[in-house]
Amino acid sequence: MKTIDLRSDTVTQPIDEMRKAMACAEVGDDVYMDDPTVNLLQKKAAELLGKEDALFVMSGTMGNLLSIMSQTHHGDELITGRNNHIITHEVGGLAALCGVMTRLINRPDDMIYPEDIEAAVRPDDIHEPRTVLVCLENALSNGTVVPLEVMQKDYETAKRLGLNVHLDGARLFNAALALNCDVKDIAACADSVMFCLSKGLGAPMGSMVCGSKKFIERVRKNRKRIGGGGRQMGHMAACGLVALDVMTKRLHEDHDNAKYLYEKLMEIPGVHVAGEPQISMVFFSLDADETAFMKTCKEAGILMNPSDKGMYRVVTHVGIEQEDLDVLIQCIRQVL
Ligand SMILES: Cc1ncc(COP(=O)(O)O)c(C=O)c1O
Repeated sequence: MKTIDLRSDTVTQPIDEMRKAMACAEVGDDVYMDDPTVNLLQKKAAELLGKEDALFVMSGTMGNLLSIMSQTHHGDELITGRNNHIITHEVGGLAALCGVMTRLINRPDDMIYPEDIEAAVRPDDIHEPRTVLVCLENALSNGTVVPLEVMQKDYETAKRLGLNVHLDGARLFNAALALNCDVKDIAACADSVMFCLSKGLGAPMGSMVCGSKKFIERVRKNRKRIGGGGRQMGHMAACGLVALDVMTKRLHEDHDNAKYLYEKLMEIPGVHVAGEPQISMVFFSLDADETAFMKTCKEAGILMNPSDKGMYRVVTHVGIEQEDLDVLIQCIRQVL
């Protein structure tokens, strides 16, 4: 029986092309900056995003942490959304390791609008911390995409107020596909951008941090400080190159499959779908007992995360076909 893993797009297996590229990669010591495969990946990522430079880091969490660390000092404050990944899923790294305070925007749609930034920025007052950074996210962890116009206005506002902008673009390529724009257009709304080569792009590890040359120099030094300087990293960067060259071109399949699931779910009484999917994530609740649903899924070979307050999340990715989603639909019909 096939295991159908719908928990996340982080569960992807490297495609054959990645496995071959990994084995054959030309490598060197990346702390000395002489790994040709890493250097090529960094050059490609910077060019794709329209930034001066880029750095290969271990994970999205490390990329966000280093981006914040390299644009703040202890005691500074940043503005971000209360449900953004840096707040909810990064183990408090920005407090523990960067020593920054956070001012959280609390909107039902999890977006940040220019007026939120205007209202949250601190005045120049001896009693108050310095606001230095706005941290945006696109696509959002709730599966929605922030419109480009909102990001552009956020960026204009932040710069007018003397703030830098960091973008957590873990699923940047999904966002660009949903917005029907170039990743460059989104990256232009931030001074620093992190995007993941893992997740929908299917690499076994790694994220890119992109920005100005000066910023990347600071990120490289901080990466070494936290023990993230790798040696023959080209074996991993080789998968990143396949991710950029090949996997970015198939992401639409995941979005189409998410839409397929959405349409099927809409036909079933007792299923409440949160909205039409914009990327590869479908959220829904069921008029059915969770334990019974999870058991039915397990017996059919489906891996699902438990619900978040009754809301289930399915993520489509490479290796998930429409027939796999039909198995889920069958389980839902059975349990209802
Ligand atoms: C929006 C967002 N940002 C950052 C990350 C962190 O990435 P990683 O798991 O590689 O640390 C994730 C992971 O799922 C994410 O969804």
